[in-house]
Amino acid sequence: MTVILSIETTCDETAAAVINDRLEVLGSAIASQHELHAPFQGVVPEIAARAHLERILPVIDRALGQAQLGLEGLDAIAVAVTPGLANSLVVGLITAKTLAFTCNLPLISINHLHAHVYACQIASKKNVYPCVGLIVSGGHTHLYDFENATSPRFLGGTIDDAAGEAFDKVANMLNLGFPGGPALAKLAESGNRKRFKFPRSFIHDQQLSFSFSGLKTAVRYEIAGYGQVDFRQLRIDSQLAADVAASFQEAVADVLVAKSIQALRQTGRDRLCVGGGVAANCRFRELLEKAMHAERAELLIAPSELCTDNAVMGGIAFEKFHAGQFESLDLDIVPGLVRS
Ligand code: KG4
Ligand code: ZN
Repeated sequence: MTVILSIETTCDETAAAVINDRLEVLGSAIASQHELHAPFQGVVPEIAARAHLERILPVIDRALGQAQLGLEGLDAIAVAVTPGLANSLVVGLITAKTLAFTCNLPLISINHLHAHVYACQIASKKNVYPCVGLIVSGGHTHLYDFENATSPRFLGGTIDDAAGEAFDKVANMLNLGFPGGPALAKLAESGNRKRFKFPRSFIHDQQLSFSFSGLKTAVRYEIAGYGQVDFRQLRIDSQLAADVAASFQEAVADVLVAKSIQALRQTGRDRLCVGGGVAANCRFRELLEKAMHAERAELLIAPSELCTDNAVMGGIAFEKFHAGQFESLDLDIVPGLVRS
């Protein structure tokens, strides 16, 4: 039995997982930093990096403890090196390199976006490739054609905000705290999703691009009108807030569903795998299930705890382990998105 330790510090979750080659999770720990960033309504990179530094070793200890293993029980160290916040990625990489060097273990690099899609393979315990992969998170909204797990073809992505970012910004206008996606989804349950016809950018366009900034602006005008506004002072009627939340969520979900259908048709694939925090959204899941059923395509979405950032999805490292694709200790971070 081969066992790897996977490390994830791309954004604001410090996570580690111990996984075996049957993709069974022996141990998994996450330290969320939401409380540190909430006062700023967004992730502050320097705060994130410092918090990773404090938390990474205790988190690894917790994951190993759950697995009842010491470092000598590991066969490789894997770490997410792209894309992400530079200083956050560095903390994970230095930790991984140190462990690999001192324990004389192979080092494996993980692409965080590919790993989000691989979460579907881990959850379903079956081979999900080839497939179209949709990643919808706080930082990314991208479609890929995955022939295999680790070398996909980029199909298209957002030209401005990511879907999760739009959720967080609209939630901020509605004073729902940070990150606002889950709170906005909760509020939307009591809202009328047909009350506002918000824009659905590129929905009929054959290009697989997304844009959510116009939608965000439309919401802003609806609740606050034009000109300067301090959203914290704004008193918004509770039914209006719920209707805005429901109508906004519907617009985002409609676009994501339409683009997924187009991506399947354009690639000729019959399977869609979805990952990233927004994939935890119930209404989006519901609409996508209906659409994929009508399209006769197979749909795989990981359970919510594997949609948001975690280290379990780092099980993708086994693909490289089996292929003997190891890194030297020169391995570096790649913060920006490389479109593959
Ligand atoms: O994948 P993730 O944990 O981190 C990134 O890699 O960005 O995604 C976080 C994003 C946040 O924007 C959060 O508001 C959003 O996912 N999110 C949701 C839900 N749960 C998390 N958005 C909509 N509905 C949800 N239920
Ligand atoms: Zn992510």
